[in-house]
Amino acid sequence: MKLNKNNFVIFPKGDPNNQSIIFIHGFPFDHNMWNFQIEALSSNYFCISYDLRGLGESAVGDGQYTIEMFADDIHYIIKENDFIKPVVCGLSMGGYIAQRAVEKNENLFNALILCDTKSVADNNDAKLKRAEGIKKINEFGVKRFIEEFIPNCFADESITKPGNIYKETLSRSLSFSAEGVKGCLLAMAGRTDTTEFLSEIKIPVLLICGEKDKLIPPYIMEEMAQSIPDSEYHVIPSIGHITPLEKPEVVNKIIKDFLSRKVKPK
Ligand code: MLT
Repeated sequence: MKLNKNNFVIFPKGDPNNQSIIFIHGFPFDHNMWNFQIEALSSNYFCISYDLRGLGESAVGDGQYTIEMFADDIHYIIKENDFIKPVVCGLSMGGYIAQRAVEKNENLFNALILCDTKSVADNNDAKLKRAEGIKKINEFGVKRFIEEFIPNCFADESITKPGNIYKETLSRSLSFSAEGVKGCLLAMAGRTDTTEFLSEIKIPVLLICGEKDKLIPPYIMEEMAQSIPDSEYHVIPSIGHITPLEKPEVVNKIIKDFLSRKVKPK
């Protein structure tokens, strides 16, 4: 683990001489979301996960975040560590950040991996839902918000599956601060729309979605894939929004296969 001067923690694994991959987790989770992928990929790739400001082990700061700031953090990580054209991989909110980071400077990246995410910005209903979430946190506390939010992220089968991935994930998120979680809700509500950019993306893009994703159903990602010139789209049967944790072996295989064909060695 390494604390950088912008006060978010990054977790590098593997040989820094290999092609790098930066993993961005979703909301309200932390870098552990990508543990299975990093385990499977770090012998051939330099894998970097980190905790977004306000979540996990990163500092909360003033709790005032924007997706723009999170996208700048990716550029900062690349610059600070001298990464040459990393692959960037984001899930949901992590995908909003990855898309904006690529839109801001595509030349920095070798490829983009998007899991269970979308390009459209929040419409009025979505903004009102974020506001309701903030109200709930203020009235009943952040634990209640997280306890109600996270079950929706997983397919029912993943919640009841033997093994403790769901419980472990939930219990980590229950330790997050109200300020950090509210700051992320506001950042998502205020994000820009990257839909028009999709048809301009030149790097290869892999899109993955859980068949039972209740937050971002597969048709949304299928439409995104149709707009992106060099794209591949996979739906993973029987799982929800948190694909890397719900079916890690399938996600790993898809990512490995994509990288072996699409990412030129440095
Ligand atoms: C996420 O998984 O990152 C969030 O659910 C995304 C969102 O709320 O828009």
